[in-house]
Amino acid sequence: MPLDIVVGTQWGDEGKGRFVDLLAAGADYVARYNGGDNAGHTVNVGQQIFKLHLIPSGIIHPHTVALIGNGVAVNPKVLITEMETLVESGIEISPERLILSYAAHMITPAHLALDEAQEKARGNAKIGTTLRGIGPAYTSKVARHGLRLVDMLNEANFDHAVEVHVKEINHQLTSLYGAEPQDPGKVADELKGYAVRIVPHIGDISSTLYDALGAGRRVLAEGAQGTLLDLDHGTYPFVTSSTPTAPGALVGLGLGPGYEERVIGVTKSFQSRVGSGPFPTELSGDLANRLRGTGEQPWDEFGTTTGRPRRVGWLDLVLLRYAVRINGITELALTKLDILSGYERIKICIGYRQGDKEFSKLPFGPSDLSGFEPLYEEIPGWQEVIRDARKWEDLPAEARSYILRIEELIGIQIRLVSVGPEREQVVEIS
Ligand code: GDP
Ligand code: IMO
Ligand code: MG
Repeated sequence: MPLDIVVGTQWGDEGKGRFVDLLAAGADYVARYNGGDNAGHTVNVGQQIFKLHLIPSGIIHPHTVALIGNGVAVNPKVLITEMETLVESGIEISPERLILSYAAHMITPAHLALDEAQEKARGNAKIGTTLRGIGPAYTSKVARHGLRLVDMLNEANFDHAVEVHVKEINHQLTSLYGAEPQDPGKVADELKGYAVRIVPHIGDISSTLYDALGAGRRVLAEGAQGTLLDLDHGTYPFVTSSTPTAPGALVGLGLGPGYEERVIGVTKSFQSRVGSGPFPTELSGDLANRLRGTGEQPWDEFGTTTGRPRRVGWLDLVLLRYAVRINGITELALTKLDILSGYERIKICIGYRQGDKEFSKLPFGPSDLSGFEPLYEEIPGWQEVIRDARKWEDLPAEARSYILRIEELIGIQIRLVSVGPEREQVVEIS
């Protein structure tokens, strides 16, 4: 059955958006299953650069229907802005084209205030969140005082639901963090103001997908963030609060198992991370500055959502093997190979050392990476600019060796390699 899942294998920003855009050409439905507007997906199509946070990147193709699943935390204000920006760019947004799960939780102004207060209180131990209210919104969901999109349909009870929600958050804001409480009436009025634009899009996407898959239509599920930011399987506690890994697509869209055809793991040719937390192959100094770029180029390593400089380092194959296992990845898509042009030698982390012991697999996953020192293999680099490569033979021999060595060490085929941010800057490997 035709359900393909696109998942990030690292700490996010692997370039998922650009591959979702590419793969959406062959899909009928594109469905976002986790996270919120902490995500930032940049897609270049000709002269246009789209920056998406909540709406699936596949919406750029006019034939697709875009769905936002119950696993997503929706800030209605951000969603409306994104809808308007897309319309200004010539993308059609209608209730038939963009459907939101009634069961998706809302991010409210109270969540934003709490995210900020909690990060402040963490001091040096801060997670470095995007301050988009993500953690508090998923906490409300689990603690059962969240607001769902379906609540917007129940006008009679809406004020009461908001009051219960805000009261819970205010308790934390004031007694734990000494922050200002939120006014439930104001929050309710603000959310009601958004309802006019949101309500026509609310639907039952689980049912839509069930019928579509049953009729043999193709569905592309889009994960935000990445495996190492997964709440259960990432570098806890320096993670996000949702399930970016492939199984999250089923829970986050309301589907049972048995559909998947392909799980496409998007991997950057090196490693990057925004925010705090362990990063064994992290580089500093000139090497890091070179990989990151100065910020002048749109693809330089600065966060799409927050503009923060990303931490960068060499590709970590121990963590990539882990991502393959956790997600059931069937193929890899490698991005930003062009950024590695011009190095004498490129390093890949093939194992770890702790004391006098060597590991090809971490004993407790990425839960505690402290004290593990990366073991590197050095691979000859290439000097050519490769942005015009479109076929395997167009790539320099050293770049091909880099790809083949990763495949050999991971045991999974790399099917797509991107050599620039544009839609067509891709080498498909058969
Ligand atoms: P996502 O969050 O996984 O969708 O990734 P982001 O969009 O946050 O970050 C990836 C950045 O790299 C974006 O600016 C893309 O336009 C850019 N990008 C993606 N693939 C390539 C590539 O192959 N080469 C270059 N130079 N840039 C790329
Ligand atoms: P995309 O979809 C990179 C990081 C934050 C922080 C941690 C928790 O563009 O790959 P949160 O706001 O989620 O509570 O922050 O997760 N983070 C991301 N890093 N790409 C993302 O999304 C991210 N979304 C969250 O920087 O370290
Ligand atoms: Mg991103």
